[in-house]
Amino acid sequence: MVLGIRKYGDAVLETPCEKVANFGSKELKTLVFDMFETMYANKGVGLAAPQVGVLQQVTVIDTSAGEVEEERLVLINPEIVHLDGQQLGEEGCLSIPGFREDVRRAMTAKVRAFDVDGNAFEVTGEELLARAMQHEIDHLHGILFLKHLSPLKRDLIRRKISKLVKAGEW
Ligand code: NI
Repeated sequence: MVLGIRKYGDAVLETPCEKVANFGSKELKTLVFDMFETMYANKGVGLAAPQVGVLQQVTVIDTSAGEVEEERLVLINPEIVHLDGQQLGEEGCLSIPGFREDVRRAMTAKVRAFDVDGNAFEVTGEELLARAMQHEIDHLHGILFLKHLSPLKRDLIRRKISKLVKAGEW
C-alpha cells in the first residue's frame, strides 16, 4: 500500500525514532513492504519510517530506483560505524518536495544494521549509496538535510515553504 508522505513542518519528521523490537513480525514486514511501494511511487531512492508517520528506526534504500532487485536495502536500527572522505552533491527529500541543495557528506559510509528478521549485517557504500544511508539515518534521529545547509540557505527555504503553506500549496 502506498502511504502518505509527511512534509516539512510536521513534527514527526523532527522527532527521534525508537529502536525496533518486533523483528520478524507481520507489522514490521508490512511496514517495510509499504515503504518500498511508497518510495517507488514517489520516485525516491530512500525513505525513512518517520516520513510515513512511524517513529521507528526503519529505512529503505534503492539507489537504482527499482531497476536492480539487488540494490534493495532495508536498514533497521542502523548505526554508522565508519565514515571516510568527502563528497559535495545535490540532495533532495520526499518530505521537502521541490527543493534540492548541495550537501556535504562523507564519500564512504560503513553501517551496521538489522534485517526484518533481526539478523545483524554490515554494509559499506560509496557515493550515492553512502549519501542515501547518511540522509536516511539522519531522518531516524529527527534530522533533515536542511540542517546541513548554511543558516542563510536554510532560512530562505523555510520562508519559501511558509509562503507555500499560507497559499495552501504545501
Ligand atoms: Ni529525506
